[in-house]
Amino acid sequence: MTTQEFKSEFEARRQKVESAIDKYLPAADTRPSIIHQAMRYSMEAGGKRIRPMLLLAAHDMFPSDADPLPACVAIECLHTYSLIHDDLPCMDNSDLRRGKPTCHKQFDETMALLAGDALLTYSFKLLAEAYKNCPQAAGLVFDLADAGGSTKMIGGQVEDVLGERDGKMTPDKLNFIHHNKTAALITAAVTMGVRLADNYSEENIEVAREIGKNIGLAFQVIDDILDVVSDDATMGKTTHLDAANEKMTYVSLYGIDRSREIAAELTSKAIALCDKLSPNCDFLKALISYMQNRIN
Ligand code: IPE
Ligand code: IPE
Ligand code: MG
Ligand code: MG
Ligand code: MG
Repeated sequence: MTTQEFKSEFEARRQKVESAIDKYLPAADTRPSIIHQAMRYSMEAGGKRIRPMLLLAAHDMFPSDADPLPACVAIECLHTYSLIHDDLPCMDNSDLRRGKPTCHKQFDETMALLAGDALLTYSFKLLAEAYKNCPQAAGLVFDLADAGGSTKMIGGQVEDVLGERDGKMTPDKLNFIHHNKTAALITAAVTMGVRLADNYSEENIEVAREIGKNIGLAFQVIDDILDVVSDDATMGKTTHLDAANEKMTYVSLYGIDRSREIAAELTSKAIALCDKLSPNCDFLKALISYMQNRIN
């Protein structure tokens, strides 16, 4: 697949995801309208839509009657809730997200907290509603709930905050944080896509998990690098915050050059695994390379 083919395919899929977000979220004037405005504000601010794209890329490798778009919106709702809460003053205290003021800056802390809560709950309502006649419904709910829960995404956020508080950094703690706060949800995107296949196998789910683990860790390593080397305008979010918050990151532990090497190694491992899933994996491979070379 050429770069140009990838770009136009990516853009076509991204537009489908944007329309699905608009279609499935409650209308902004639904009472009480302020909460629905806040939910839409953060969801529609943009964002790379990496998790929906991974879900679609995984789904498209296998024959399937199920529509993947509600699952794409559900995972993006859960991800967006995590960003709204991550930006709150009691967490990373960030003012800029997706090129706009963060939810609590645009509305207020109370509404941002509630918009996050609402997006989290809505993600499961959407799965339950959209897949009520699908045998995979419970598995999709499991993947998302497991990734977002206290042993994974929330657990990673907890150790991230504890690490800031005690300042003691170890490679084991850092890996726990990155695998859980970020890689778990990215893994769910890949497994949910595979699960939507008409005849998915547990072997394929296992390979999907391995791919997700590698690209998810690489994604957070690159996020740590970009926090240092990029700027607010390019990233659309407040940068240089990790150092300001004395955060445990790949850059602070291994330095930029070694972190880049680690991200490249993880990406190559993931790309090699794609062939085990399907011969039809060109778009997934190109997406994984794009994730490594991203600038924001
Ligand atoms: C940001 O995620 C939070 C991390 C896990 C690093 P993204 O970089 O996917 O943010 P958006 O969705 O594009 O805004
Ligand atoms: C965010 O990690 C992880 C979650 C939101 C679960 P970061 O705090 O590094 O993300 P950014 O840099 O604010 O996007
Ligand atoms: Mg954070
Ligand atoms: Mg943050
Ligand atoms: Mg970051």
